[in-house]
Amino acid sequence: MKRVLLIGNGAREHVMAEALKASSYGVSLFVVGGAKNPGIVELADEYLVADVCDIEAITEFAKDVKPDFAVVGPEGPIAAGVVDALLEMEIHSASPLRTVGRLESSKSYTRDLLEKFQIPGNPEFKVFTDEDGLEAFFEKLGDDFVVKADGLKGGKGVKVSGDHLNGVAEGLAYARECLADGDRVVVEEKLVGQEFSLMSFCDGAHTVDMPCIQDHKRAYEDDKGPNTGGMGSYSCENHSLPFLVGEDIRAASDITKNVAKALFEDTGAYFKGVMYGGFIVTKNGVKLIEYNARLGDPEAMNVLPIMTGDFVDVCEGIINKTLDQVEVGFEKKATVCKYVVPEGYPDDPCKGEKIVVGEIPEGVKVYYASVDDKEDGLYLSGSRAVAFVGVADTLEEAEKLAQSAVGAVTGPVFYRKDIGTADLVEKRVEMMKGIR
Ligand code: AMP
Ligand code: GLY
Repeated sequence: MKRVLLIGNGAREHVMAEALKASSYGVSLFVVGGAKNPGIVELADEYLVADVCDIEAITEFAKDVKPDFAVVGPEGPIAAGVVDALLEMEIHSASPLRTVGRLESSKSYTRDLLEKFQIPGNPEFKVFTDEDGLEAFFEKLGDDFVVKADGLKGGKGVKVSGDHLNGVAEGLAYARECLADGDRVVVEEKLVGQEFSLMSFCDGAHTVDMPCIQDHKRAYEDDKGPNTGGMGSYSCENHSLPFLVGEDIRAASDITKNVAKALFEDTGAYFKGVMYGGFIVTKNGVKLIEYNARLGDPEAMNVLPIMTGDFVDVCEGIINKTLDQVEVGFEKKATVCKYVVPEGYPDDPCKGEKIVVGEIPEGVKVYYASVDDKEDGLYLSGSRAVAFVGVADTLEEAEKLAQSAVGAVTGPVFYRKDIGTADLVEKRVEMMKGIR
């Protein structure tokens, strides 16, 4: 029997909880979440509702429940030093310490690290702490640039020319605004291509790649509308994506391996957890958009349900630096995840309204996110509500399954019908053909 502390309360943590509970060791699950998640409540032995960055609440709870190890879902607690605080109590985590968690929490750190260790994958970029040379660099990049405030901004610190900013004057103004707020700012070349996620378990010395996934950040069909936490994602039975070639995946995988090594050389700390590379395949090959230091949401729901091997072994392999000895693989299945979200999401989501989930066909998994479970049913609480994941032999079947479940939800909600469909995938393949 293993005692595991899980931090977080979204759909990602619901699927993590499910994977832990499926362990052959038997798991007693202790959870700290910002709110009750009805799916996790069912699986947890104890569930503390507290801010997931509240180190005092978490360490007090850990003192009581005495876990064998911990695992953290979201980025906030990693950046706040929750893993470091638990380690001081001799509780190890399958999640990174703050120093190496900087891979996600500081975009400038990651760009500088790749440059320092001569790892390919950076676009042209410069980090600014003041206005020195700022204007000249914008002039050099011309109309295609991206401005990133350093630090965790919940996806809101990144502004892309053509999308959020029109022309150099607006770019310069936003960069100045970031500097005035006391942030470092990264200004970089805008990359054109198809984005994909490659997540890898990492124990600091070894990496184990998961299948490639494509997320959909825009709120509306055809990639229109505001950016969101991710409306859904798909993966294919061959663990690649229709617009990738083998060399693209090898290039991304090598970048991650080299970054893991570089992180240790740079900090003296091993990165233990999940290195989630947000990559983009361009006409000049694979480039790095950013790293996250955790499983993706929704991407976790594409990979954990098809993982073969024991999630406890994976976590312990990460902690003990023996990941190379852990048997872990992924079934040759396609997956499609579609989130149902409140009307108005992400800018002005409706809250407190009831939704009803329809019948769930076989082959579909359901993961709860931002919903309140009341006596008479589920109520929206303002963010992505419920994720439906179709798992099948082909992408077409997986999409149909996810669609039939997400389409049966009633209430003031919407979702993206196009995720994982042949039409949308074909558009992406065509786009890449035009670029390569
Ligand atoms: P990030 O928080 O760094 O992942 O950025 C959020 C989104 O901004 C990414 O998913 C991309 O769509 C976009 N983005 C970030 N950096 C670049 C870049 N250099 N070129 C093009 N798009 C980018
Ligand atoms: N899929 C986006 C994220 O987890 O940050």
